[in-house]
Amino acid sequence: MTFSDSAYAAFAAQGRGVRSPEEVSALMKLTPLGPCIGVSVTDIEPRQLGDSDTAAALGEALETHGVLVFPELHCDDASQVAFGKALGEPDVFPIPTGDHAEIFLVTLDPAKNPAASYLQGTFFWHIDGATDDVPNMATMLNAVGVADNGGGTEFCSTYASWDALSADDKAKYKDLRVVHSMEASQRLVYSDPTEAQVADWQARPSKEQPLAWTHESGRTSLVLGATTDHIVGMNRDEGRQLIDHLEAWATDERFVYHHDWTVGDLVMWDNRGTMHRALPYDADSPRLMHRVTLAGDEAFA
Ligand code: OGA
Ligand code: MN
Repeated sequence: MTFSDSAYAAFAAQGRGVRSPEEVSALMKLTPLGPCIGVSVTDIEPRQLGDSDTAAALGEALETHGVLVFPELHCDDASQVAFGKALGEPDVFPIPTGDHAEIFLVTLDPAKNPAASYLQGTFFWHIDGATDDVPNMATMLNAVGVADNGGGTEFCSTYASWDALSADDKAKYKDLRVVHSMEASQRLVYSDPTEAQVADWQARPSKEQPLAWTHESGRTSLVLGATTDHIVGMNRDEGRQLIDHLEAWATDERFVYHHDWTVGDLVMWDNRGTMHRALPYDADSPRLMHRVTLAGDEAFA
């Protein structure tokens, strides 16, 4: 069974219909970017993204392939937000940065985004919302500016890396629980923090999550990333060794799609079954992403 067959089997097990390849090809062209993660979406216009039938087909492709890549789509903010609304519920930010309260600016420039310093954490593999009860369902980035050097984004399928574990390993890991915290992820960036920084991080509650998340669809994914602190009930060093070992396993190149950005690219990831990270770029780089984040639809379980 190929990786996408297992996704289709999960749709069927939930009694959800999946559009046939003919139905999908009437709306867009899908071209897989690798054996287990990533699909390129072409023959589609930005204004079609908010159309309910198109968005539903894209939602199915997202669950099947983990990452949707729309090369040089040149999507405007309104179409990006309409796409988000057609697929789910976009987060709204208290201080809108433009005409749309749903658009968050991903940039290391504090003049454009006051929260820029936290974004240094995006250089480490992570899941958006890993310290929440319900992580984000999906996130999309629209490349308005790209870095001259570096600044790619990598994604790994945490469904595929779970599936590829041996039966013995699955049995060993399936009931483990891991504490995730903002502090753990920020300590990777700031190894010698001030007391004020630590107090700020600790003000955000840490959260215990399953290591193996069994979804309503019946599929299972690994829950790892920069926010991992320790394994519940395990000696700290032993737990860290296991987390580091699994992190290396989950981010092995066979489970990874690497995206090099061109201005106009729109990329969306299924945050429930992937991890992602930015590759280094300079703080004064012109890299600027317009991000729309969709609220979670399924709690960690
Ligand atoms: C994010 C994120 C990665 C990037 O916006 O959640 O992790 O490449 N971004 O900017
Ligand atoms: Mn992120």
